[in-house]
Amino acid sequence: MSQNNASNQPDTALETVEVSKLFGGVRAVDRLSVAIGRRGMTSIVGPNGSGKSTLINLLSGMLPLDGGMVVIDGVGLRVVKAHETPDHGITRTFQQVRLFDQVSVWDNIMVVLTRRNVWSALFERARPRYRERAQAILEDVGMWDKRDSLAEDLSYGQRKLLEIGRAIALDVQIYLLDEPFAGLFPQMLEHVKDIMKQMRDEGRTIVFVSHNMDIVREMSDHIFVLDAGTLLADGEVEDVLTRPEVIDAYLGA
Ligand SMILES: Nc1ncnc2c1ncn2[C@@H]1O[C@H](COP(=O)(O)OP(=O)(O)OP(=O)(O)O)[C@@H](O)[C@H]1O
Ligand SMILES: [Mg+2]
Repeated sequence: MSQNNASNQPDTALETVEVSKLFGGVRAVDRLSVAIGRRGMTSIVGPNGSGKSTLINLLSGMLPLDGGMVVIDGVGLRVVKAHETPDHGITRTFQQVRLFDQVSVWDNIMVVLTRRNVWSALFERARPRYRERAQAILEDVGMWDKRDSLAEDLSYGQRKLLEIGRAIALDVQIYLLDEPFAGLFPQMLEHVKDIMKQMRDEGRTIVFVSHNMDIVREMSDHIFVLDAGTLLADGEVEDVLTRPEVIDAYLGA
């Protein structure tokens, strides 16, 4: 397999080359080529069903590619294995939040920090460096007061914050966030924005999917607009969102 197809741009963190995903007759992602910059925040927008979550699933190895290649740090992969993505410096969050529901907020973070399963993590929790790191993360995402609650007892917004906390605990370079703002009350939404800005300021690569155009305008350095699994437009946010084809396809109202 050729590994020379990577972009020559040193500031590209992640790239797809003609990536496809089919579900039956539906081309959810259709020979899509995008290059995501290492610095700053990149948003992925598009109508419902345009392939945003599928793209995140392909980049994070949650779904096998039906064609094309993902290029991570200049290395082309035709198979992306989900369990190996942290080794590639990538993690993601889900449109439908996924947590260990039956364990505490604290242990949800500990499991990630100690890179172990739930039960081993319980025995590792005494180690000071993990304790201190877990506390710092929970304070960061505003969940320290909830540390002893079971994940299943959290509100929707708190679950989203905890999921982001778990992503932070992995301490990787590239964060793929699928609708991190959806369904959040304004205060929670501001908090998630602040966390993402802080991660960006630390030099991490933030990619997020959102239907909230105000936030997209405020937060994106670069934007990709998908339509029926293909790239309708990409570039600097104000420029892209004022293009007629984008307004027609998506922002029509
Ligand atoms: N697991 C699946 N099985 C079958 N079809 C799927 C599956 N996942 C997605 N699809 C289809 O693929 C297309 C793209 O879906 P996807 O979830 O990627 O869209 P999206 O842009 O994330 O939409 P939304 O804004 O509603 O979250 C849709 O037609 C969807 O019905
Ligand atoms: Mg989606």
